[in-house]
Amino acid sequence: MKIQPPTKDAIRQAAEAIRRGELIAMPTETVYGLAADALNPDAVRKTFAAKGRPADNPLIVHLSDLGDVEFVAREFPPLARKLAEAFWPGPLTLILPKRREVPQEVSAGLDSVGVRVPSHPVALALIRASGRPISAPSANPFMALSPTRADHLDPRILERVALVLDGGPCEVGLESTVVDVRGPEVIVLRPGRISVEDLEAIVGPVSIADSSETKGAKLAPGQYRRHYAPNTPVRLVDRLGPNDKGIALGVATGEDQIVLPDDPVAFGASLYASLHELDRLGLEEILIQSPPHRPEWVAVWDRLRRAATSAED
Ligand code: TXA
Ligand code: MG
Repeated sequence: MKIQPPTKDAIRQAAEAIRRGELIAMPTETVYGLAADALNPDAVRKTFAAKGRPADNPLIVHLSDLGDVEFVAREFPPLARKLAEAFWPGPLTLILPKRREVPQEVSAGLDSVGVRVPSHPVALALIRASGRPISAPSANPFMALSPTRADHLDPRILERVALVLDGGPCEVGLESTVVDVRGPEVIVLRPGRISVEDLEAIVGPVSIADSSETKGAKLAPGQYRRHYAPNTPVRLVDRLGPNDKGIALGVATGEDQIVLPDDPVAFGASLYASLHELDRLGLEEILIQSPPHRPEWVAVWDRLRRAATSAED
C-alpha cells in the first residue's frame, strides 16, 4: 500500500526514497506537500511533471531547523531572522537570496528561494531522516485544490509518489503565508494563517503585494487568478437559499450544505476539505456564502476569489 501511517519504518523508507531522487507525499501543518530532494535537479523536475506545473512557478524549500537556512540562502537579514524566530516552526515562508547550491529548477530561475520550517512532526522527521532540504509544493495537480488529508490526493499524484505518509488532517488547512524579506520592508506575497497583524507585531508595518497577474507577476510568481479550485464551478453569494448546495456560514438553510464556523481560522481549516467533499457530489455548482470583508478574513478571501474564477475568465 502506498498510503502508510507515519511509523518509524515508513519514515525511514520515505527518507531513502527522497535520497534516491523519488517523490513522497508528506503531511505538513498547512496542506500535504509533494516532497523531493531540493538539491537534486532531476527529483525537482519530477515534481513539476507530476503536478503539470509550469516551470516558472518556484517551489518552497523545507528545513528542519532555523540553523540550516545558511545552506540554502546567501543572506539571512535581521528582519527575516526575527520573523523566523517568532513563527518557526510554522506556516510562514520567507523569500531570501538563493545560494548557488540550490538548483535553478527549484526557484524557477529566480535569484531567490522560499524557505520554511514546518511544524508538523512527520514533515520534520522526514527532513531529518533524509538529511536533505526538501522542496515541496502542495501535492495537487496544477490549479487544483490542495489536499488537507491523504484521501484528497489525486490519482495523478498518487501514481508518481513512492509513498504517502498519512499524518491525518492538516491543522491549518490553507497554504503558508509567503513574505519577501529581502528589502527594508516586509512584503506579504500570499496571505495565510500568520496574519499581517502577527507580522507587524514583530517587525512593524508591512505591505501587501498586489498579486494580480499583471502587476504582481514578477513579485509573486505562481499567484494565478484561478487557483485552489475544485472541478465543480464555484460561486460566491450573500446567502444560501433552501435549495442551494454548498458552504453556509454559521447555519444551514437546506440539504447538501456544509456549515462552516463564522470564524476565519476555523473556516480556513475546513475550507479545502469541504470543497473536496462537495466536489465528489457531482453538483452543477458549489455556492459559498461570502464571509465578512474584514482584515482577519484576507487569507480565506484570497482562496475564495481564486476558486470562484472560472477557467474562461
Ligand atoms: O504551506 C505551504 O506553503 C505548502 C506546504 C506543502 O509547505 N506549500 C505550498 O507550495 O503551498 P506551492 O508550491 O503550492 O506554493 C508556493 C508558492 C509559489 O506559487 C509562489 O507563489 C511562492 O510560493 N514562492 C515560492 N518561492 C518563491 C520565490 N522565490 N519568490 C516568490 N514567490 C515564491
Ligand atoms: Mg499550491
